[in-house]
Amino acid sequence: MQRLLWRQASRPSASSSPSLSSLAGRFQRASYASSPFAARAAPTPSRLATRTARRSYSSEPPKGSSSSIKFWPFLVIIALGTGGYAMVVKQRAEMPAIDAPKKAGELGAPVKSTPTFSADDVTVVFVLGGPGAGKGTQCANLVKDYGFTHLSAGDLLRAEQERPGSQFGEMIKDYIKNGLIVPMEVTVQLLENAMVADLDKTGKGAIAGRKGKFLIDGFPRKLDQAHKFEDAVCPAKMVLFFDCSEKEMEARLLNRGKTSGRSDDNADSIRKRFRTFVETSMPVVDYFETQGKVVKVNAERSPVEVYKDTQKRLEGVLGKGF
Ligand code: ADP
Ligand code: C5P
Ligand code: MG
Repeated sequence: MQRLLWRQASRPSASSSPSLSSLAGRFQRASYASSPFAARAAPTPSRLATRTARRSYSSEPPKGSSSSIKFWPFLVIIALGTGGYAMVVKQRAEMPAIDAPKKAGELGAPVKSTPTFSADDVTVVFVLGGPGAGKGTQCANLVKDYGFTHLSAGDLLRAEQERPGSQFGEMIKDYIKNGLIVPMEVTVQLLENAMVADLDKTGKGAIAGRKGKFLIDGFPRKLDQAHKFEDAVCPAKMVLFFDCSEKEMEARLLNRGKTSGRSDDNADSIRKRFRTFVETSMPVVDYFETQGKVVKVNAERSPVEVYKDTQKRLEGVLGKGF
């Protein structure tokens, strides 16, 4: 509880998302720093030659020395420089690609040794499933019956995309249209801001006395998001996974697309979203399965049937009066 108070005291207002704007600077710094040779330019043969040449001009050549004595040191230096440069190029080619950061602290983010919220104070349920599996539909039911706060990562990203002055608007738009996963720093920060705002909405200091219950819908969609959120924000108690075939999900999404106005509810984006789901998001479910946290619900049935099963399974894990 003390941790909650401490974190809140140093936290900027969630509605204006100031921490998000500072993220933009971090991205710029990070992309520069991610070049392994950013701090020091690799010596090229021509640079070496120029430096050497400058140095030799500053001192008088000894009188009466022959031209072969004057030039052989330069030839040696150029040969050594060329060899060294070739080695650097080879090393770079052999380095593994730099992947997305997996822990808080990378990409210049401040290191958090403990999560913002303790799992004793805040219940987090991750809600996963393919696009169109019915996550949002079932979350709405759970909110009514159990008093959860529903935070959809996709909804938060769409709101940030529309927020005037957002530095991430254009980037989010591209990622969503192409069914790609937005860099985790943005999504995790949006979620954390929303959680803080929710816990604090009854007034100053109320955050310390509230036991939060959150359905985090459509998140984590990539392993780095899972690690970052659990390290920096709050460990999850369980994962609700809505299992549905692509055929059924596609039909639902195309139907939703008639009225949703979403840029990604069309055949082309749906195909890309399915691919991302299989390649990037299913490994997250597998990861939580190894921790025994996943409850899998058959989402191919009617919404009412899916919900009955969901309630039963959720209460099985969290208890009736959680
Ligand atoms: P998700 O949040 O997983 O993308 P939604 O809850 O938005 O999915 O559901 C996608 C579409 O499918 C919506 O139009 C919704 O009304 C519909 N839908 C949701 N659950 C079912 C279901 N069990 N059977 C048929 N249609 C459903
Ligand atoms: O969950 P939803 O279908 O609303 O997500 C829409 C899009 O938002 C995803 O296809 C993806 O581009 C982006 N997203 C993301 N990371 C998440 C959730 C959504 O990048 N955790
Ligand atoms: Mg949804």
